Amino acid sequence: MEPILPGAPWLIAHKSMLGVNKPNKITLNEQDYVIWQNQKGEVFALDNICPHMQAPLSNGWVCQEKDTITCPFHALEFDGQGRLYQGDKKDIQPIAKSLELVVNNDCIWTYAGFEPKLPIPDLHQIIVDEYEFIGVAGEKSIQGDFLSNLMVNYDYNHQNGTHKELFKITSCNVSSFEEKGYYATVKQDLMRANNTLGEIVKNPILGIFPKILSNTLEYAFPSTTAFFAKTPIGDIAQIHILYPETEKRTKTFILMYAKNINHLMKFLFKNSVLQAAATVIEQDTGAVENLYPRQKSKIRLPNEEIMFYAEKLYSDW
Ligand code: FES
Ligand SMILES: [Fe+2]
Repeated sequence: MEPILPGAPWLIAHKSMLGVNKPNKITLNEQDYVIWQNQKGEVFALDNICPHMQAPLSNGWVCQEKDTITCPFHALEFDGQGRLYQGDKKDIQPIAKSLELVVNNDCIWTYAGFEPKLPIPDLHQIIVDEYEFIGVAGEKSIQGDFLSNLMVNYDYNHQNGTHKELFKITSCNVSSFEEKGYYATVKQDLMRANNTLGEIVKNPILGIFPKILSNTLEYAFPSTTAFFAKTPIGDIAQIHILYPETEKRTKTFILMYAKNINHLMKFLFKNSVLQAAATVIEQDTGAVENLYPRQKSKIRLPNEEIMFYAEKLYSDW
Protein backbone atom coordinates (compact mmCIF):
# COMPACT_ATOMS: atom_id res chain seq x y z
CA MET A 1 0.00 0.00 0.00
CA GLU A 2 1.05 3.63 -0.56
CA PRO A 3 1.79 5.40 2.74
CA ILE A 4 -1.01 7.69 3.92
CA LEU A 5 -0.04 11.40 3.92
CA PRO A 6 3.75 10.86 3.79
CA GLY A 7 5.64 13.78 5.36
CA ALA A 8 2.90 14.55 7.89
CA PRO A 9 3.98 14.77 11.54
CA TRP A 10 2.29 11.98 13.48
CA LEU A 11 1.84 12.00 17.23
CA ILE A 12 2.31 8.31 17.97
CA ALA A 13 2.13 8.34 21.79
CA HIS A 14 2.23 10.38 24.95
CA LYS A 15 5.00 9.34 27.36
CA SER A 16 2.44 8.38 29.99
CA MET A 17 1.19 5.63 27.64
CA LEU A 18 4.54 3.81 27.44
CA GLY A 19 5.35 2.66 30.96
CA VAL A 20 9.01 2.49 32.02
CA ASN A 21 11.53 0.01 30.59
CA LYS A 22 8.72 -1.83 28.88
CA PRO A 23 8.57 -2.57 25.13
CA ASN A 24 5.49 -1.24 23.30
CA LYS A 25 4.52 -2.03 19.73
CA ILE A 26 3.18 0.71 17.54
CA THR A 27 2.14 0.52 13.90
CA LEU A 28 2.32 3.50 11.58
CA ASN A 29 1.61 3.31 7.86
CA GLU A 30 1.91 -0.50 7.78
CA GLN A 31 5.27 -0.52 9.62
CA ASP A 32 5.66 -1.98 13.10
CA TYR A 33 8.03 -0.37 15.58
CA VAL A 34 9.09 -1.13 19.12
CA ILE A 35 9.20 1.89 21.41
CA TRP A 36 10.33 2.14 25.02
CA GLN A 37 11.18 4.72 27.63
CA ASN A 38 13.80 4.49 30.35
CA GLN A 39 13.47 5.74 33.93
CA LYS A 40 14.97 9.09 32.91
CA GLY A 41 12.13 9.56 30.42
CA GLU A 42 14.32 9.10 27.32
CA VAL A 43 12.46 7.40 24.51
CA PHE A 44 13.83 4.99 21.89
CA ALA A 45 12.23 3.36 18.89
CA LEU A 46 13.39 0.73 16.41
CA ASP A 47 11.95 -1.16 13.52
CA ASN A 48 10.17 -4.04 15.24
CA ILE A 49 11.70 -6.72 12.99
CA CYS A 50 14.83 -8.28 14.46
CA PRO A 51 17.61 -8.19 11.82
CA HIS A 52 18.67 -11.74 12.78
CA MET A 53 15.63 -13.93 12.05
CA GLN A 54 12.81 -11.39 12.06
CA ALA A 55 11.26 -11.96 15.48
CA PRO A 56 9.18 -9.09 16.89
CA LEU A 57 11.40 -7.10 19.23
CA SER A 58 8.35 -5.79 21.07
CA ASN A 59 7.92 -9.27 22.57
CA GLY A 60 11.40 -8.99 24.09
CA TRP A 61 12.62 -7.17 27.19
CA VAL A 62 14.42 -3.97 28.09
CA CYS A 63 17.65 -3.81 30.12
CA GLN A 64 17.43 -0.77 32.34
CA GLU A 65 21.22 -0.51 32.94
CA LYS A 66 22.11 -0.45 29.23
CA ASP A 67 18.92 1.03 27.68
CA THR A 68 18.79 -1.93 25.30
CA ILE A 69 16.08 -4.18 23.99
CA THR A 70 16.65 -7.92 23.81
CA CYS A 71 15.02 -10.01 21.10
CA PRO A 72 12.80 -12.77 22.49
CA PHE A 73 14.00 -15.38 19.94
CA HIS A 74 17.79 -15.71 20.40
CA ALA A 75 18.31 -12.94 22.93
CA LEU A 76 20.39 -10.61 20.75
CA GLU A 77 20.49 -7.18 22.29
CA PHE A 78 20.22 -3.77 20.58
CA ASP A 79 20.53 -0.24 21.84
CA GLY A 80 18.22 2.65 20.92
CA GLN A 81 20.26 3.38 17.78
CA GLY A 82 19.95 -0.22 16.63
CA ARG A 83 23.55 -1.20 17.46
CA LEU A 84 24.17 -4.80 18.46
CA TYR A 85 25.49 -5.48 21.97
CA GLN A 86 27.67 -8.55 22.49
CA GLY A 87 28.75 -9.12 26.05
CA ASP A 88 29.69 -5.65 27.16
CA LYS A 89 30.77 -4.47 23.71
CA LYS A 90 28.58 -2.71 21.27
CA ASP A 91 29.01 -2.52 17.51
CA ILE A 92 29.72 0.83 15.96
CA GLN A 93 27.30 0.48 13.08
CA PRO A 94 23.57 0.07 13.68
CA ILE A 95 22.05 -3.04 12.13
CA ALA A 96 18.49 -2.57 13.33
CA LYS A 97 16.77 0.49 11.91
CA SER A 98 15.89 3.23 14.39
CA LEU A 99 12.84 5.46 14.10
CA GLU A 100 13.57 9.16 14.37
CA LEU A 101 11.46 10.81 17.07
CA VAL A 102 10.75 14.37 18.13
CA VAL A 103 9.70 14.55 21.78
CA ASN A 104 7.88 17.73 22.77
CA ASN A 105 6.08 18.20 26.08
CA ASP A 106 5.90 14.43 26.61
CA CYS A 107 4.33 13.98 23.18
CA ILE A 108 6.23 11.69 20.81
CA TRP A 109 6.12 12.70 17.16
CA THR A 110 7.61 11.14 14.06
CA TYR A 111 7.76 11.64 10.31
CA ALA A 112 8.64 7.93 9.96
CA GLY A 113 11.62 8.69 7.75
CA PHE A 114 9.75 10.87 5.24
CA GLU A 115 10.79 14.38 4.30
CA PRO A 116 8.76 16.68 6.60
CA LYS A 117 6.01 18.43 4.69
CA LEU A 118 4.40 20.23 7.62
CA PRO A 119 5.88 21.36 10.95
CA ILE A 120 4.75 19.88 14.23
CA PRO A 121 1.72 22.06 15.03
CA ASP A 122 2.27 24.78 17.69
CA LEU A 123 -1.27 24.17 18.89
CA HIS A 124 0.11 21.59 21.33
CA GLN A 125 2.65 24.05 22.74
CA ILE A 126 -0.04 26.71 23.16
CA ILE A 127 -2.17 24.28 25.15
CA VAL A 128 0.70 23.04 27.32
CA ASP A 129 1.70 26.63 28.15
CA GLU A 130 -1.71 27.32 29.64
CA TYR A 131 -3.20 24.02 30.72
CA GLU A 132 -2.27 21.19 33.02
CA PHE A 133 -2.14 17.62 31.70
CA ILE A 134 -4.89 15.42 33.15
CA GLY A 135 -4.44 12.11 31.38
CA VAL A 136 -4.94 9.99 28.27
CA ALA A 137 -8.34 8.51 27.45
CA GLY A 138 -9.89 6.27 24.86
CA GLU A 139 -6.78 4.74 23.30
CA LYS A 140 -8.09 2.55 20.52
CA SER A 141 -7.36 0.89 17.16
CA ILE A 142 -10.39 1.51 14.99
CA GLN A 143 -11.29 -0.78 12.10
CA GLY A 144 -11.72 1.98 9.58
CA ASP A 145 -9.61 3.93 7.12
CA PHE A 146 -7.91 7.17 8.11
CA LEU A 147 -10.10 9.44 5.97
CA SER A 148 -13.38 8.14 7.45
CA ASN A 149 -12.06 8.74 10.96
CA LEU A 150 -10.75 12.17 10.07
CA MET A 151 -14.07 13.21 8.61
CA VAL A 152 -15.93 12.28 11.79
CA ASN A 153 -13.85 14.89 13.63
CA TYR A 154 -14.95 17.55 11.12
CA ASP A 155 -18.58 16.42 10.99
CA TYR A 156 -20.98 18.64 12.99
CA ASN A 157 -24.06 16.65 12.28
CA HIS A 158 -23.19 13.35 13.89
CA GLN A 159 -23.65 14.46 17.52
CA ASN A 160 -27.42 14.15 17.42
CA GLY A 161 -27.09 10.54 16.32
CA THR A 162 -23.76 9.13 17.40
CA HIS A 163 -23.50 10.97 20.76
CA LYS A 164 -27.21 11.19 21.50
CA GLU A 165 -27.07 8.84 24.48
CA LEU A 166 -24.18 10.50 26.26
CA PHE A 167 -24.65 14.24 25.93
CA LYS A 168 -28.27 14.42 24.77
CA ILE A 169 -27.30 16.86 22.06
CA THR A 170 -30.32 17.99 20.12
CA SER A 171 -28.73 20.44 17.70
CA CYS A 172 -25.48 22.04 16.75
CA ASN A 173 -25.04 25.55 15.48
CA VAL A 174 -21.70 26.48 13.89
CA SER A 175 -21.26 30.24 14.23
CA SER A 176 -17.89 30.49 12.52
CA PHE A 177 -15.48 28.50 10.42
CA GLU A 178 -12.11 29.89 9.43
CA GLU A 179 -9.41 28.03 7.62
CA LYS A 180 -5.85 28.91 6.86
CA GLY A 181 -4.37 26.08 4.87
CA TYR A 182 -3.87 23.14 7.15
CA TYR A 183 -5.22 24.95 10.22
CA ALA A 184 -8.87 25.64 10.92
CA THR A 185 -11.00 27.02 13.74
CA VAL A 186 -14.66 26.36 14.37
CA LYS A 187 -16.99 27.88 16.93
CA GLN A 188 -20.10 25.93 17.79
CA ASP A 189 -23.02 25.89 20.22
CA LEU A 190 -24.46 22.54 21.19
CA MET A 191 -27.99 22.44 22.62
CA ARG A 192 -28.66 19.63 25.05
CA ALA A 193 -31.67 17.95 26.59
CA ASN A 194 -31.46 16.95 30.27
CA ASN A 195 -29.76 13.77 31.33
CA THR A 196 -31.70 11.38 33.52
CA LEU A 197 -30.69 10.90 37.15
CA GLY A 198 -29.54 7.36 36.31
CA GLU A 199 -27.19 8.68 33.63
CA ILE A 200 -25.78 11.29 36.01
CA VAL A 201 -25.18 8.69 38.72
CA LYS A 202 -23.26 6.59 36.17
CA ASN A 203 -21.31 9.56 34.85
CA PRO A 204 -21.40 12.55 37.26
CA ILE A 205 -19.83 14.99 34.80
CA LEU A 206 -23.10 15.03 32.84
CA GLY A 207 -24.87 16.63 35.80
CA ILE A 208 -22.83 19.81 35.61
CA PHE A 209 -22.98 20.46 31.87
CA PRO A 210 -25.12 23.45 30.91
CA LYS A 211 -28.02 23.32 28.45
CA ILE A 212 -25.97 25.12 25.84
CA LEU A 213 -22.33 24.11 25.42
CA SER A 214 -20.25 26.72 23.61
CA ASN A 215 -17.07 25.23 22.24
CA THR A 216 -14.16 26.15 20.06
CA LEU A 217 -12.38 23.60 17.93
CA GLU A 218 -8.91 24.05 16.50
CA TYR A 219 -7.67 21.74 13.81
CA ALA A 220 -4.11 20.99 12.81
CA PHE A 221 -4.46 18.68 9.83
CA PRO A 222 -4.02 15.73 9.83
CA SER A 223 -3.15 14.57 13.34
CA THR A 224 -4.90 16.92 15.73
CA THR A 225 -8.37 18.13 16.67
CA ALA A 226 -8.40 20.25 19.83
CA PHE A 227 -11.73 20.84 21.51
CA PHE A 228 -11.94 23.70 24.04
CA ALA A 229 -14.90 23.87 26.42
CA LYS A 230 -15.69 26.00 29.44
CA THR A 231 -17.40 23.89 32.07
CA PRO A 232 -18.54 24.84 35.56
CA ILE A 233 -15.58 22.94 37.03
CA GLY A 234 -12.95 24.60 34.85
CA ASP A 235 -11.72 24.92 31.28
CA ILE A 236 -11.05 21.77 29.37
CA ALA A 237 -8.85 21.23 26.33
CA GLN A 238 -9.34 17.84 24.81
CA ILE A 239 -6.97 16.86 22.02
CA HIS A 240 -8.10 14.10 19.69
CA ILE A 241 -5.21 12.38 17.98
CA LEU A 242 -5.40 10.20 14.88
CA TYR A 243 -2.79 8.35 12.88
CA PRO A 244 -2.98 5.64 10.20
CA GLU A 245 -1.84 2.22 11.41
CA THR A 246 -2.70 0.43 8.18
CA GLU A 247 -4.88 1.14 5.18
CA LYS A 248 -7.92 -0.11 7.11
CA ARG A 249 -6.99 0.59 10.71
CA THR A 250 -6.64 3.94 12.49
CA LYS A 251 -5.24 4.67 15.91
CA THR A 252 -6.86 7.22 18.16
CA PHE A 253 -6.49 8.57 21.70
CA ILE A 254 -7.42 11.71 23.60
CA LEU A 255 -5.00 13.92 25.56
CA MET A 256 -6.97 15.72 28.25
CA TYR A 257 -5.87 19.06 29.69
CA ALA A 258 -7.56 21.45 32.13
CA LYS A 259 -7.06 24.92 33.60
CA ASN A 260 -8.73 27.03 36.28
CA ILE A 261 -9.77 23.86 38.00
CA ASN A 262 -9.46 23.47 41.75
CA HIS A 263 -7.86 20.47 43.38
CA LEU A 264 -11.03 19.08 44.88
CA MET A 265 -12.83 19.32 41.54
CA LYS A 266 -9.92 17.66 39.81
CA PHE A 267 -9.96 14.87 42.35
CA LEU A 268 -13.73 14.41 42.02
CA PHE A 269 -14.13 14.73 38.29
CA LYS A 270 -10.88 13.57 36.72
CA ASN A 271 -12.05 10.00 36.15
CA SER A 272 -15.46 11.12 35.05
CA VAL A 273 -13.98 13.50 32.44
CA LEU A 274 -11.66 10.78 31.13
CA GLN A 275 -14.50 8.29 31.08
CA ALA A 276 -16.75 10.64 29.12
CA ALA A 277 -13.93 11.14 26.59
CA ALA A 278 -13.47 7.39 26.27
CA THR A 279 -17.21 7.00 25.68
CA VAL A 280 -17.08 9.61 22.90
CA ILE A 281 -14.34 7.57 21.21
CA GLU A 282 -16.37 4.35 21.62
CA GLN A 283 -19.35 5.98 19.96
CA ASP A 284 -17.33 7.43 17.08
CA THR A 285 -15.67 4.05 16.63
CA GLY A 286 -19.04 2.33 16.46
CA ALA A 287 -20.17 4.81 13.81
CA VAL A 288 -17.08 4.32 11.62
CA GLU A 289 -16.90 0.56 12.00
CA ASN A 290 -20.50 0.08 10.91
CA LEU A 291 -20.36 2.14 7.72
CA TYR A 292 -21.00 0.54 4.36
CA PRO A 293 -18.52 1.45 1.59
CA ARG A 294 -18.78 5.11 0.69
CA GLN A 295 -20.99 6.27 -2.18
CA LYS A 296 -21.82 9.70 -3.47
CA SER A 297 -24.19 11.30 -0.97
CA LYS A 298 -27.66 12.32 -2.12
CA ILE A 299 -28.26 14.70 0.77
CA ARG A 300 -26.37 17.74 2.08
CA LEU A 301 -26.64 18.87 5.71
CA PRO A 302 -25.61 22.28 7.07
CA ASN A 303 -21.91 22.89 7.81
CA GLU A 304 -20.74 19.94 5.78
CA GLU A 305 -18.34 22.17 3.86
CA ILE A 306 -16.00 21.93 6.88
CA MET A 307 -15.85 18.18 6.42
CA PHE A 308 -15.24 18.53 2.68
CA TYR A 309 -12.44 21.00 3.37
CA ALA A 310 -10.66 18.22 5.33
CA GLU A 311 -11.37 15.68 2.63
CA LYS A 312 -9.85 18.02 0.05
CA LEU A 313 -6.68 18.53 2.11
CA TYR A 314 -6.41 14.77 2.20
CA SER A 315 -6.95 14.16 -1.49
CA ASP A 316 -4.72 17.11 -2.59
CA TRP A 317 -1.81 16.07 -0.32
S1 FES B 1 15.52 -13.41 15.68
FE1 FES B 1 16.13 -11.93 17.04
S2 FES B 1 17.82 -12.75 17.99
FE2 FES B 1 17.35 -14.18 16.51
FE1 LIG C 1 -17.88 12.23 17.60
